[in-house]
Amino acid sequence: MASFDDLERLREEGLTRVREAAGGEALRALEREYLEKGGVVTSLLAEIPKLEPTARRDAGIGANRLKGEIEGALAARREELLEAELAREAGGAFDATLPAAPSQRGSLHPITQVTREVEEIFTAMGYRVLDGPEVELDFYNFQALNIPADHPAREHQDTFWCDEEQNLVLRTQTSPVQIRAMETLEPPFRVIAPGRVFRNEACDATHEHTFHQVEGLVVGEDVNVGHLIGTLKGFLGEIFRRETDVRLRPGFFPFVEPGFEVDVRCPFCESGCRVCSDTTWIEYCGCGMVHPHVLRAGGIDPERWSGFAFGMGLDRLVMMRHRIDDIRHFMGGDLRFLTQF
Ligand code: DAH
Repeated sequence: MASFDDLERLREEGLTRVREAAGGEALRALEREYLEKGGVVTSLLAEIPKLEPTARRDAGIGANRLKGEIEGALAARREELLEAELAREAGGAFDATLPAAPSQRGSLHPITQVTREVEEIFTAMGYRVLDGPEVELDFYNFQALNIPADHPAREHQDTFWCDEEQNLVLRTQTSPVQIRAMETLEPPFRVIAPGRVFRNEACDATHEHTFHQVEGLVVGEDVNVGHLIGTLKGFLGEIFRRETDVRLRPGFFPFVEPGFEVDVRCPFCESGCRVCSDTTWIEYCGCGMVHPHVLRAGGIDPERWSGFAFGMGLDRLVMMRHRIDDIRHFMGGDLRFLTQF
């Protein structure tokens, strides 16, 4: 039976046994032997009230110190054994103090980054962001947009037809979301719809079969061309982070009347460069006042409401921003390109 007289011997013996314990089971047995009910330390503590009052204090201090030391030694040995086991599992090569192997972090695609920026700018102007299907009905992609059956945009070399009988196409533009917006929202409203579009193009440095657009549509009472120009100027100033000169030229798109092509002053030069083909202007987007046929196709009364719409290419914007000279990099999946953003 343990007694206070051999406290020092008990301590030496207990600590040595713990330090030399060969594994988890041995440690558990020692824990039981020393610390649990009926164990060495527990019995000592239970003896204290029976001692002479003058001896109790020292006995209490001694027993509790022993308890703490055994507990500490158990925890330390447990840790040591665990590390040894991990090292064995790693073929002896595991060193928990080495820095972790660097993980490869991905980054957002430059088109995604710009899309998010565009969304932020327009939501700050009170626009909602809409989404639309990439596989679209002929009705939304063409018919409702006032694009008649013989319009060149429908020709086979431009459109990827999914199923001609069901009239399904890969959308060639984000404009069909205009119709979907009109069908679901009550005017007045302002929306943008960014997304992927597809065309059966001969691919080169400026043409890709898959690219990105942002559509914009505003419907309200007395919406006019001034609102359209102000909106585009405001947007371009934000995205290029400086006041940007814009120029409108008449342009034909079946779903707007009048329709315009918008050019922006080349952000790279003063007097002409390769990017702007020496004109100082860069063709930037199509826009116009929504054609009454289109409003009607979307279930909106053109007598009461008017609207403007615009559609711009995001790839072009990113190319201008980062001076990227070939649109095919975007979908190429080459990490040497992607990790630069
Ligand atoms: N959808 C047209 C295209 O892909 C761009 C466009 C032009 C969109 C005029 C519009 C617009 O909303 O009003 O070429």
